[in-house]
Amino acid sequence: MYYPDELIEEVRIKNDIVDVISGYVKLQKKGASYFGLCPFHNEKSPSFSVSGSKQMYYCFGCGAGGNVFTFLMNYENYSFGEAIKTLAERAGVNLPEVERSEEMRKKENHRARLLEVNKEAAKYFYYQLRARQGEIGYRYLSGRKLTEETMKKFGLGFANKTSDDLTMYLKKKGYDGKLVQEAGLASFDERYGMHDKFWNRVMFPIQDINHRVIGFGGRVMGEGEPKYLNSPETPVFDKSRNLYGLNFARTARAGNIILCEGYMDVISLHQAGFTQAAASLGTAFTTGQASLLGRYTENVLLAYDSDGAGVNAALRAIAILREAGLSGKVINMHPYKDPDEFIKNLGTEAFQERIDNAENSFLFEIRILERDVDEKDPESKTRFHKEIAKKLCGFEIEVERENYLEAVADKYHIGFENLRKLVASYAARNGLTGQIRRPKSGVAKKNTSEENSKKVQRMLLTWITDYPAVYPKIAKYIAPSDFTEELYQKVAERLFADMETGNYNPAGIVSMFEDEEEQRQTAALFNTKVEALETKQEKERAFHDILYAVKKNSYEYYSEKLGSDMDALKQVIAGKKALEELSKTHISLD
Ligand code: UTP
Ligand code: MN
Repeated sequence: MYYPDELIEEVRIKNDIVDVISGYVKLQKKGASYFGLCPFHNEKSPSFSVSGSKQMYYCFGCGAGGNVFTFLMNYENYSFGEAIKTLAERAGVNLPEVERSEEMRKKENHRARLLEVNKEAAKYFYYQLRARQGEIGYRYLSGRKLTEETMKKFGLGFANKTSDDLTMYLKKKGYDGKLVQEAGLASFDERYGMHDKFWNRVMFPIQDINHRVIGFGGRVMGEGEPKYLNSPETPVFDKSRNLYGLNFARTARAGNIILCEGYMDVISLHQAGFTQAAASLGTAFTTGQASLLGRYTENVLLAYDSDGAGVNAALRAIAILREAGLSGKVINMHPYKDPDEFIKNLGTEAFQERIDNAENSFLFEIRILERDVDEKDPESKTRFHKEIAKKLCGFEIEVERENYLEAVADKYHIGFENLRKLVASYAARNGLTGQIRRPKSGVAKKNTSEENSKKVQRMLLTWITDYPAVYPKIAKYIAPSDFTEELYQKVAERLFADMETGNYNPAGIVSMFEDEEEQRQTAALFNTKVEALETKQEKERAFHDILYAVKKNSYEYYSEKLGSDMDALKQVIAGKKALEELSKTHISLD
């Protein structure tokens, strides 16, 4: 951050968050906070809260949250610099022209330079597509029925046949050859020296959710290998945490997001009005992408290719979505290969119909299993039924399990009671496995006790900011080191230090973090939902339980580290004493 902390704080304090957000979202006062419909996800009842006392916003539905800067960065897709400029102007604060030290500039600039060089390249490709030498590319894209407007929206471009024109151009613009290489736009080899990575291809710039170009996909025109060439991963291009088209899809408010396999599919869908379409980036769908999607929707519709590879990819994506707690449905593309071809042949209305009739992902999985069953072979049929029973055991909630059981028994003409017995016997042997909810996807599953310990830590921080008077009373029991999550600990350090001076502000703490994701998590720390408790007595009891749980978790955490960590012993001894004292102490919230 280029501005001094005090100035950032001044701008923040002079822009009341309730005022600012009221300019964008209709807010209504409810208790100590204001509520409205969340602008960051699609919802019908308000779960978006803005707190005047904390100067923060938080959505209980999608987890979006932060201070007034974060809001503008998210809503307007501003950088921090743009957000502070806007707000400074709004409040009449003069911002100085900032001077940056050489060292600071280097460090901060690297990522920024990579983004800049990508943007410059995107502009260059864009220009080439419309120049004489790009005609062939323009014709190719028009041939695929893309309109000028669509090409513009996605910033499509063209990489010339010449092998080093982009590199030359970027160098002339003052970008270092090494940087161009690092951005994945050029390579070096002994024989040819520096040369462009992309040539004679139509170019698809890949943007992050804030519309910044982070990489490219380039397609050959006609046949040729590889069909698509993609930028390599770079410090600004993480393929497992970005999705093509999500910069538009996230504000489409369609109530779902359509996940496709290809860039062209996304573009065709947007052109047909389905602006909620996004795609992974030439790699398989990942958990990181699932949690990104989870910020904007609960309903993901898979529009994968109808061939064998597409079906397998869909099965894997379903498992990942399920693990992320998202509901997945599958759009039937038959008889076409992919959404692009479907739209071209059958049009928008037919696709909308397919959306409305998208298949429940569980029933899709069973249907795929069924394809390999030999109806005439009792052994094959039995195996199929057992497989169904096993999958049904994944539903831990009884009503849900029964509903699926009924649907499947009905569809595949299996006796309801027989199938139920099979489920019961499978469950007796293996338990309700939870396999449906948490299938293996190569990612360590979240340990529930770990989730719990994180949750109580968040709750404690929320309580302390809601009832600051309690801090001096608990200061002797709790220290930042009791927060075993790294981010939580950093926040606690700052919060407690501020509280010592009697001058604390959670919204200022959010500004400590430059990364949007960290800002979001920090906002979550101060806005964890605490069950609605009526009486003071109930509240004090709940608070005591949370405090005790955090301390106990910390005690266990350091106990495990005994022997490997010098400080752990001290922590454990103090922790034990604190726990004993706490169990006998009443702490009033006043
Ligand atoms: P497809 O082969 O299904 O291509 O690859 P497509 O989307 O239908 O493309 P068109 O219609 O022939 O132009 C789907 C996605 O897989 C990645 C790309 O992201 C592509 O959009 N892919 C495919 C590659 O990264 N490299 C390849 O060589 C092929
Ligand atoms: Mn295609």
